[in-house]
Order: sequence, then C-alpha cells, then structure tokens
Amino acid sequence: AMKAKSVYRCTECGAESLRWQGKCDTCGEWNTLVEELVAPKVSASKAAGAQRRLGGANAFGEGGQVLETPRLRDVLGAEEHRWTTGIAEFDFVLGGGVVPGSMVLVGGEPGIGKSTILLQVAARLEGEGHSCLYVSGEESPLQVKLRADRLGSTAGSVALLGETNLETILATAAQAQPKVMVVDSIQTVFTGDLEGAPGNVGQVRECAARLMRFAKESGTAVFVVGHVTKGGGIAGPKTLEHIVDTVLYFEGEGSADHRVLRATKNRFGSVDEIGVFRMTVQGLEAVENPSALFLGERSESPASGSAVTCLMEGSRPMLLEVQGLAAKAGFGTPQRVSTGYDARRLALLLAVLDKRAGLSFAQLDVFLNVVGGVRVQEPAGDLAVAAALASSFYDKPLPGDAIFLGEVGLGGEIRGISQAERRLLEAEKMGMRRAFVSQRSVPKRLPKQLKVEGVPDLVALFRALF
Ligand code: TYD
Ligand code: MG
Repeated sequence: AMKAKSVYRCTECGAESLRWQGKCDTCGEWNTLVEELVAPKVSASKAAGAQRRLGGANAFGEGGQVLETPRLRDVLGAEEHRWTTGIAEFDFVLGGGVVPGSMVLVGGEPGIGKSTILLQVAARLEGEGHSCLYVSGEESPLQVKLRADRLGSTAGSVALLGETNLETILATAAQAQPKVMVVDSIQTVFTGDLEGAPGNVGQVRECAARLMRFAKESGTAVFVVGHVTKGGGIAGPKTLEHIVDTVLYFEGEGSADHRVLRATKNRFGSVDEIGVFRMTVQGLEAVENPSALFLGERSESPASGSAVTCLMEGSRPMLLEVQGLAAKAGFGTPQRVSTGYDARRLALLLAVLDKRAGLSFAQLDVFLNVVGGVRVQEPAGDLAVAAALASSFYDKPLPGDAIFLGEVGLGGEIRGISQAERRLLEAEKMGMRRAFVSQRSVPKRLPKQLKVEGVPDLVALFRALF
C-alpha cells in the first residue's frame, strides 16, 4: 500500500513544512509543529475542467450533489437511548448512561484508577448483554486478567485485544462489532500513516479522530483513556477535548482512597455533575452519600482550624471540611500552601482578614486543605475558609455542628450565594445544627433543626464566634 502523505503544520500560524523542525520558519515559534495527514485533494485538472464548464463561476455550486433538507422536526432518529452500567455515579456523570456511538475520553493521572473503572464499566455492560472489547496497549493480557480477577463478576467475559496499531485495532473491531470498546490508552496507539512516535500530538490527534469516526459509523461507544501530563493537559494542550463528545476527569489525592469523576465536556449531559468513588480491594465503589464520606473522619469536637461548608456540585449539595493552619513561620518569607482551593484566592482572603478584621498572618505560615481531594471552586466556600483560618489564628475551635456559607468580598462583607435553601437542607440532613450564612441569602423557609444566622461581614462573624 502507498504510504499516506503527511506534513507538519504549525499550531500557531498554520504554516506547513515537509519535515519536522524545532522552530517554525514562518512565525518563529518553538515546538509548535505537529504532524498531520494531507487530505486527498481534487486534482488540479479536474477542478479546472469544472471551472471551464461553469464559465469561470462556480459560486452556485454547479456540479455538486443536491440533497434533501428536511425540517428539523422531521429528522428521524431513535429517541435518545442509553445503556446504563448500573454503576450509579458513573451513569450519572455521563448524563444518564452510555450513549451508543459516542466517544468518551477518560483522563487522569497515572495510577488514579482509569483502567479499573473502565474494566468495571465494561464488565457491567457485558453483564447487561452489550458486548465489550477492551484494547490494552499499556498492560499485558495477564495484567489485565489479574485486574479482572480482582473485580470478579462478569469482568472475565470481556474480550481482550493487546494491540497498539490503530489499523489492526479498527479492523479487529469492525469484525467483532462490539457495542462498547475501551482503548487503554490513546498515548500507546499509533497509525502507520504518520511517522511520529506513539504519544506525540500528531499521533494522538489522528488516532482519536479515526476512533471518533469509527464510533459514529459503527454505533460502538468508544471509551479512550488519556493520561494527564504534568501540565494538566491530555497529550498536549486540549488536543483531544475538541475531538471527543465527552471528557471525564478522574481525580483524587494520592493517599486518600476516594476518587472524584467529573465531566468537563459533555455533548449529552451537564458538565457540573460529579461522581464520588472509593477505591477498595475489589475495585471502585460508588459512594452514594458523599457528604457522609467527606465528613466521616471528622471528630465530634474538632480541633481549631476546621470548618464545614456545603458546595453545589452540579445539582447535588455536598458537605465538605476545610482545614486551615496558621503556624509561626521560620526564616524568610512565610509559606502559603493551598490544596483544593485557589492559591490566589487564599492570598486575597488573607489580605481581607488582615485589613478588615485585623488578623495579621504576615509572620505566619498558612496551610489550607480541603479534605477529601475535592476542589472548592465556588465562592460560597470562602466563608468556611475565612472561618477556618481565623479559628486557627485564635487557636479556638469552631462549633462542631456549624456550617459556613458565603462569598467574602474585598471589603470584608459577606455576599450572597445561590441555592442557600438546598444547601441548608443538606446540612440539616447531615446533622448540622447551626449555619452562618450571608445575611442576604437567609431563605424564607428554614429547616426546622437548623439555627440559621445571617452575618453581614467578617467582623460580625468573628464577634459571634470567638
Ligand atoms: P489503575 O486503574 O491501574 O490506574 P490507571 O489506569 O489510572 O493508571 O489503578 C491503579 C491503582 O488502583 C493501583 O495502585 C492499584 C489500585 N487498585 C485497587 O486498590 N483495587 C483494585 O481492585 C484495583 C483493580 C486496583
Ligand atoms: Mg491504566
């Protein structure tokens, strides 16, 4: 077979080059050339012939094919059906199950559990009668089998293909016609049409595009594993996110055994939903009550520096513990270490605490940790962070059954939050008895067992607490 032609294209300026170079000749950027296939072009003489027939003008598309243009309401298509895996949290994050013909990218750091969850998903779907093909380029068949043994149940009946050549994978899949195919991982597969090594941006992009085409044409749901690089991207900045239908990120802290699955793009559902799992010896287990898990290790009378808040993760409220520690700094610039909370936001809060409430952290190291490897991305979590830091500053614990909800403004004022009522209900359900909430967000209907206090600013809050 003739080898397909490829060129190197600059991702910055679009210039083409016949060979790879470190620097783009046209725009001068470094490391921007990516290999891509040359699309077969209509030959010049054919195009010229068409031009002549049209008397030089082809603006009306003469010679082109004429197609039907049905009204949208008349477009035929089965009403959306999905395959549920029975792993509730997984189905939930996908938007209600696996969509046939869709392509889902599952990203995450090595070792986080991507292969585990996808083998579990394949096993469950296989058990439901949807045939699955698991393509592993990362691990030997024996390694995958050993994992399947640990997971038990129907994992043993999933078909396995140990291959990295994309043409072989697609030919095998076209023959086997699985309902679901897992490719583990996109960084290990390659097409012979490109010269680059597996894992480089050109290869990853081309392989993903062809897998996507396969998914659409065959109706097979394709799951692709993508390792996240140090910078946080999957094989180059956002290369794959554009191509696929859905992007799921699997996150968690190395030591903790729970994992959070989050959709960052979803053509078939909401992107705010998260699913929480726990890694056990029998694989990942869905956690149906994340609030209980995240608060589970918290003692009844917590030490100073611990505060609880409630975040909306998509449609679900979730209670979280925030821990702050302000300790005497050693030499040099005091440290600011933040896990699960934006570092710049922390710097801002520390400045507000200093200026508006007179708490100076200038001589103190400050550590902030959101328990459970979850990220506080909502401003509503500010108040808990401020309360945790103040509690550590004064070395006085906060009431163990209190929850904090509010955004902190630059003037030290506590600003309103969305969905206060739902958050308060969840807090009550989880055994909280007091809530400190931005004054303007105190809802009309209050949970019976929760004492809700509206607070206008940080000074008023600290006066009530310490
Ligand atoms: P893995 O799915 O291989 O991660 P990834 O594909 O994202 O690189 O899972 C890695 C870890 O999970 C590994 O350290 C072992 C652990 N693990 C369990 O704790 N229980 C299990 O049942 C399985 C299969 C794995
Ligand atoms: Mg893996």
